[in-house]
Amino acid sequence: MKKDLSIYIHWPWCLKKCPYCDFNSHVAGDDLHEEYINCVISDLNHQKTLTCDRNIVSVFFGGGTPSLMKPDYIRRILEHIDILYSLNKSTEITMECNPTSSTIDKFLGFKAAGINRLSMGIQSFHDSELKFLGREHNSKEAIQTIKNATNIFNNVSFDLIYGLPNQNLQNWGDQLKMAFDFNTQHLSAYQLTVEKNTKFFSEVKKNKWQPLDDDTQADFFEFTRNYMTTHNFNHYEISNFCRDGYDCKHNHNIWQYNDYIGVGAGAHGRYQSIDNKRHLTQNYRMPNTYIDAVKHVKHGFHQHAPLDEHEAWQEMVMMGLRIQKGIPASLFDGKYSTSQPLEKYFKLGMLQKKCDKITLTSKGQLVLDSILADIIF
Ligand SMILES: C[S@@+](CC[C@H](N)C(=O)[O-])C[C@H]1O[C@@H](n2cnc3c(N)ncnc32)[C@H](O)[C@@H]1O
Ligand code: SF4
Repeated sequence: MKKDLSIYIHWPWCLKKCPYCDFNSHVAGDDLHEEYINCVISDLNHQKTLTCDRNIVSVFFGGGTPSLMKPDYIRRILEHIDILYSLNKSTEITMECNPTSSTIDKFLGFKAAGINRLSMGIQSFHDSELKFLGREHNSKEAIQTIKNATNIFNNVSFDLIYGLPNQNLQNWGDQLKMAFDFNTQHLSAYQLTVEKNTKFFSEVKKNKWQPLDDDTQADFFEFTRNYMTTHNFNHYEISNFCRDGYDCKHNHNIWQYNDYIGVGAGAHGRYQSIDNKRHLTQNYRMPNTYIDAVKHVKHGFHQHAPLDEHEAWQEMVMMGLRIQKGIPASLFDGKYSTSQPLEKYFKLGMLQKKCDKITLTSKGQLVLDSILADIIF
């Protein structure tokens, strides 16, 4: 049987840089776009030689703002993946969309090119919050984009950000109600994080505003989980909720530590070679550096190296604990000289063991990072 593989394609450009965002996204003209697509195709060719014949579970166009791509770019890339590996009807093909580049015509073009799932960066339904987040769309446009998407696609997700300064649970609850009423299949609700090297980071440093404290953030998290789960959404990953059967196959595959390749500027991948060794790949981050590399050496790897067993174990625990499915308890066999690190969190009611799987409890979900710092070394 062919092994599964997911494919991530990165589009590194946006119309404007949002003040909270530390993703690999750049603002520039469109003069590199054609060349970039040719490089993505060469990059795919190279990574095919490393991964051989595979069953493609998912393709994910992420960014940046992939909805700035011409539908023809999507078509060319998907046709090429089909030639290399062959796509099938059940392959989930997602595209991240930004309301400012999501017209009905574009949605129809993306669908005709092969996209079957949309993930939209809505962020908020309140104009004042959208303004604070430096977004180029308003709430009316956000609502219209979701309506257009659900008329054209039957697998639609959108992102909201919560925990903004001055936000309260009443305000956030109203937005969750709106989100639920659209009848979409999936919601990603992210807690606002102030990342280094962002405009928000320097604003907070200069005391222009302060993020919510940890306890209030925890209240938002619990409120979100309760709201979504009582409305029949599965809380299948810390920030992700879905109706039955509509988890994001792509991200779920990655969190389960299955193989994926990363294509395009800054994209990273993890794959097992024929000798079962796990490898990490990391492409050059800047679009022109990536393009130069692919043109000269036929691939965009800045780093390509085998992971040792311990590194792979660390990653597997880190990612697997994020998801409701959890990780096999046997992963810890012989890892510690005493069972203390895990026992502590079982006793605190933050980790639980059921049917030989270890999962986070609701309490544990609030403090995953500190649990990881203690159990992974
Ligand atoms: C790579 S972005 C792509 C989406 C698309 N470019 C857009 O912004 O509409 C994926 C999502 O990450 C979330 N995100 C990015 N930076 C964040 C931050 N600092 N805190 C919380 N969520 C963040 C946003 O919800 C965003 O939609
Ligand atoms: S949040 Fe999205 S639109 Fe804004 S800069 Fe980041 S990737 Fe671009």
